[in-house]
Amino acid sequence: MSRRELVLSEIGYRPLWKLRAAAVTTPSALPLDTPVNLPKLQVTTAVSPIQPQPISEALDNSVQAPAPPYENPVTATPITDWDDLQQQINACQQCQLAGTRTNIVVGRGNQKARLLLIGEAPGEQEDRHGLPFVGKAGQLLENMLAAAGIDSEREVYICNLLKCRPPGNRNPAPDEISKCSHFLQWQIDAVQPELIVAVGRFAAQSLLQEQASLSSLRGKLHQYGRYPVLVSFHPAYLLRSPGEKAKAWQDWCRVRQLLNQK
Ligand code: URA
Repeated sequence: MSRRELVLSEIGYRPLWKLRAAAVTTPSALPLDTPVNLPKLQVTTAVSPIQPQPISEALDNSVQAPAPPYENPVTATPITDWDDLQQQINACQQCQLAGTRTNIVVGRGNQKARLLLIGEAPGEQEDRHGLPFVGKAGQLLENMLAAAGIDSEREVYICNLLKCRPPGNRNPAPDEISKCSHFLQWQIDAVQPELIVAVGRFAAQSLLQEQASLSSLRGKLHQYGRYPVLVSFHPAYLLRSPGEKAKAWQDWCRVRQLLNQK
């Protein structure tokens, strides 16, 4: 079994449908929620092939991003570099999460990545290890990235809206999001990604300053300042609703495709 087949098998996308050579696109369209234990099939596509779409023609809406310097709103101290970011988050006492966190969670991956992935907030495992997406949701995310041919260490920087865990994994509160936002804004401009992917309702709505549902934000190319943004499902949601993995797979194919166009 190839690595790709192993990965797809791991995330439950079995059996594998083989593309005929003539129908292969990049990335290959592959099956998602196929029932288990069926014989292997020869089909052209499992999900609709995604047509290349120039970014300029595909833009849905555009959000003005705050301009630097990104500074602590209370002390007006600007963030100077990644070490300073780490220190400022460590020292941050601006919301109640500072009192309950075990570790701050700044981010992981390539600080000059082509793709910036923004999640919601650290969960239990992330709070324990001080790294984003290292629990079950993170495993699924890694598997989806790998299946879409995206190298998470080289091509991606992963961070969250909030840098501290909300107790019991409750939803982030609006004041927590706004008090943490200068950290994220600094990260976005430091990475200068070619594409941002916001996973989940909180990351998408807060970045795009939108109240619209996740399903209506998905499938469109948005713009945050000078950065194109795609929205997809939060992997924790996909663990609870595996039937939505097919749509998530389309989103990640689109991500791969947009990166390939650049
Ligand atoms: N969920 C998130 O949104 N972020 C993490 O880092 C982990 C789980």
